[in-house]
Amino acid sequence: MDSPGGHGALTTTAHWDGVWSGLDLPDRLDGRRGAMYRSIAVWLMNNLAPGDKLLLEVGCAPGRYMLYFAEHFGYKVHGIDFSAVGCEVTRRNLVSAGIDAMVYEADFRTAKIPTETYDVVFSAGFVYHFADWEEIIANMVKLLKAGGQLVVLLDNFAGINGWLRRHLAPKTYKRHVPLTAGELERAFREAGLEKVESGYFGSLRLSVPTTSASVTQRAVSLAVKATNKLVAIVSGSLRLTIDGPRLSALVHATGWKPEGRQP
Ligand SMILES: C[S@@+](CC[C@H](N)C(=O)[O-])C[C@H]1O[C@@H](n2cnc3c(N)ncnc32)[C@H](O)[C@@H]1O
Repeated sequence: MDSPGGHGALTTTAHWDGVWSGLDLPDRLDGRRGAMYRSIAVWLMNNLAPGDKLLLEVGCAPGRYMLYFAEHFGYKVHGIDFSAVGCEVTRRNLVSAGIDAMVYEADFRTAKIPTETYDVVFSAGFVYHFADWEEIIANMVKLLKAGGQLVVLLDNFAGINGWLRRHLAPKTYKRHVPLTAGELERAFREAGLEKVESGYFGSLRLSVPTTSASVTQRAVSLAVKATNKLVAIVSGSLRLTIDGPRLSALVHATGWKPEGRQP
């Protein structure tokens, strides 16, 4: 089934079913996923506290974050995704690690999830797939308990990787709203969150999807790999992190629902 996911959605279930079919499992954040995922794992450790908490991941396939939160933070985890293949892969990924989790197969925008339920609502690479992304954030806030934390991570398509994609892979670029840390922070505050923080991390790490096997695309891929290697060597040897609104691979925002706030 190809669900458009509502008027503001920039992707479809058919697109994501294709992305998630044939994925090798287990798929772990701290497994074979490379430097980018290592920096995300470090960021999570620095910005979320372990404990007896219930977390919802929105746009959860293939469950690598759910798995990570269950194993490293001790959280109970729920997930929601509208891709049937994505949900099936998520369940298998979690079962293979012995994690008991609830996975809702539903469109987040119309799903009937109980409000004021979660200690943490988390999403990675999700909110920028909607023209009405501020409404998505407001809906996430409704699901938080008073005192709960919202965490949003995105590829920084307002920086150099967005520019590269716009020129070299315009079709995939159009599936995203290129959000800045400032825009996320404003939406978090407007949704009623407090202690809001936002920023950039993940270092300069170029990424362009290969959309064809053309000579130009292969040359671009090689140039991207070589640049990333050079940046890693230089920043590693000088102990520098190369981060900022135009450079960083990732953008984040986090905020807390005030204690005692009514839904
Ligand atoms: C970039 S992927 C998520 C990546 C993932 N969380 C990770 O491990 O990095 C975005 C996910 O959101 C899901 N999605 C997109 N629109 C949705 C919607 N309206 N409701 C629920 N899930 C949706 C897609 O099926 C896809 O699995």
